[in-house]
Amino acid sequence: MRAIMWIYVCIIFLSETWSLHSGTNENTSLKASTTSPPKKFLVHRNAAFNLGSDAYLNCSDKTWSETMYVIWNIEVNNKSCKIALSNDGEGKNTCNDGKSLRNTSSGQSFLHIPGFSADDVGVYKCESAFKGGSENYDIDVTLTVSPNISAWLKYKDNKMVAVCRAERGNPPANISWSHTGNLETVKTLNDSNGFVTVESYLELPESVTPENLSCIVRHMSWNQEKTLVPELKKGQSSEYKTE
Ligand SMILES: *[C@@H]1O[C@H](CO)[C@@H](O)[C@H](O)[C@H]1NC(C)=O
Ligand SMILES: *[C@@H]1O[C@H](CO)[C@@H](O)[C@H](O)[C@H]1NC(C)=O
Repeated sequence: MRAIMWIYVCIIFLSETWSLHSGTNENTSLKASTTSPPKKFLVHRNAAFNLGSDAYLNCSDKTWSETMYVIWNIEVNNKSCKIALSNDGEGKNTCNDGKSLRNTSSGQSFLHIPGFSADDVGVYKCESAFKGGSENYDIDVTLTVSPNISAWLKYKDNKMVAVCRAERGNPPANISWSHTGNLETVKTLNDSNGFVTVESYLELPESVTPENLSCIVRHMSWNQEKTLVPELKKGQSSEYKTE
């Protein structure tokens, strides 16, 4: 209630300062402000899609009954294009690559990207305007790539080290271990194509033979985590020097 009072106080104050500069618009200004004060949101978002999937992006949850127009400015690999539609049905689409605006059954607008590929990776900026404001998003859209995973044991300085690798994934995989060791190190390598290799090293207490030691890899593109049991690589055991 206090907040509402405060808004009214602001509106009265604003309309009075407004009227100092232009008396003619006083009434319309006051009316518009009272019903819905102009709002503008600019929000950064991230989205990632699997190769070949149908991708959907929305700009607002509002339906067309409240929306005046929706504009998408799309900047992907070496290309920029625009898709726009207003509530009178006027629209344009300069993308010519299958991207289009569609409506949900309840009348919300969304951008449809058929068969998502590396060519669709980029920044998608949208504006959805309605009475009294607009919603604006900058969406970083990337390709989800499932990493190749492997795990092994090796001897280093008479210590056993378990290694778990998730290679060339996007976004980066998350690696954890079923046991705790003396030391756990994680290395992350970004390659030029934006894919990320994650390696986790678990240094084990010298005396312990890791029974049922496993690494657990999680990735956005999988429904379930994956478990790997690291084993000695062929030829490695000869490097182990007992004291
Ligand atoms: C979505 O709804 C709007 C407003 O009713 C309409 O102008 C537009 O043509 C519709 N788009 C599609 C793809 O049906
Ligand atoms: C290792 O796994 C086997 C089979 O699941 C189980 O019977 C055994 O108790 C496990 N050992 C340890 C130390 O957890």
